[in-house]
Amino acid sequence: MTQQPVSDSLVFFGATGDLAFKQIFPSLQRLAKRDKLKGPVVGVAKSGWTLDDLKKRARDSVEQHGGLDPEGFEKLIALLRYVDGDYLDSATFQEVRKQCGGASHPIHYLAIPPSLFGKVLEQLKQAGCADGARVVIEKPFGHDLESAIALNQIVHQTFDENDVFRIDHYLGKNAVQNLIFFRFSNSFLEPIWNRQYVESVQITMAEGFGIQGRGAFYDETGAIRDVLQNHLMQLLSNVAMEPPIGAGAEALRDERTKVLKGVQCMEPSKVVRGQFEGYLQEPGVKPNSQVETYVALKVCINSWRWKDVPFYIRTGKSLPVTETEVVARLRQAPQIFSLDPLPPNYVRFRVSPEMAIGIGAHVRLPGEVPRGAAVEMLATQSNKADDILPYEELLADAIVGNQARFARADYVEDAWRILDPLLKNMPPVHPYKPGTWGPVEAEKLAEADGGWQNPSN
Ligand code: BG6
Repeated sequence: MTQQPVSDSLVFFGATGDLAFKQIFPSLQRLAKRDKLKGPVVGVAKSGWTLDDLKKRARDSVEQHGGLDPEGFEKLIALLRYVDGDYLDSATFQEVRKQCGGASHPIHYLAIPPSLFGKVLEQLKQAGCADGARVVIEKPFGHDLESAIALNQIVHQTFDENDVFRIDHYLGKNAVQNLIFFRFSNSFLEPIWNRQYVESVQITMAEGFGIQGRGAFYDETGAIRDVLQNHLMQLLSNVAMEPPIGAGAEALRDERTKVLKGVQCMEPSKVVRGQFEGYLQEPGVKPNSQVETYVALKVCINSWRWKDVPFYIRTGKSLPVTETEVVARLRQAPQIFSLDPLPPNYVRFRVSPEMAIGIGAHVRLPGEVPRGAAVEMLATQSNKADDILPYEELLADAIVGNQARFARADYVEDAWRILDPLLKNMPPVHPYKPGTWGPVEAEKLAEADGGWQNPSN
């Protein structure tokens, strides 16, 4: 493998925005502490701010999100620069170039609304900021198949695919990476991880909160575009992929993309959309909005390993808990000992808020009569304060040019291809009460395969 150059300055567009406040500054502080930032860190925005304003914002950000680390913060502040200007004005980009201080491999992070991606890329190219550079692009990458293809074309006019990092912070979570690690590092799981032993798979991303004041954004996006097309497709890929040939970036990305290629296009009849009661009263939401805050669906993967195994996927806002889990239900062993029927064995991966792996099994109850009980063997690992943050991990990878945990052009297009028929022919939204598990119609969807297994706290 050829040695990739290390990025020698980091420019982030959208420096005064919400994402920078909640995720980027805390990650930059930790990267600075670990000496991973090699050169100026240039925030860009059009807010009429000064560098001092940005420093103050950085301080507020880290204080509210994880805490101020004196050593890391001081190092970050020493590197921080600010460019205030319009994204359509070439002068802004000349200034960006100047603030990068002669860096030959800058990395540009577009933490800005997708409608601005094309314009900023064009300006980067014209100002010479793209030479020898990398670009990190936030989700959502497009809003359907056509727009994703168009955006890829725009990106490729300025950057080579080797220098493009489409970010999905789910791939920065250790518990998401662990899905692959656990599957392929243990000798006992992979032999049964197929249609012979697995009866069905469920992926649930439940959020116990609403849209948190993001009405205007959310009402343009909805659950399908916000998390299904990206985070949940990444979970599906990690759960279902074939073993990669080694741990190289392209080998991993090939296998993830192959899973999506095998996913049959979404049939609207296998999809249930929901909207929590009260959504229409949220600021920024259109009065009669039909946007979904919940979606549940059934898909099949047309591969040797998974043919005819149903994969049920659901996500929703204002559900009873905030937890993300993958559960593979195993086919029933012949019950020759227990008098009572027992539930199927299962393997459960909890991805969030903490990592856990549970194996659902049966044990004999004491007594003369042969009776069994369902138990779960549980391994947990809580998120410790010194764990690496998802954005920290992904930015560190991008700085050294490691694309393993970033979505490739063909991958994002395939994720949209699967969803495109659905987006063009959306089933109706069903109301559900906040704090419940979504509309009753979603219960019916999974009924034939034993119903949903709800994550619990
Ligand atoms: C974001 C979505 O990408 O992911 C949010 O825009 C969602 O709507 C969030 O709440 C979930 O991420 P996490 O890491 O909190 O599970």
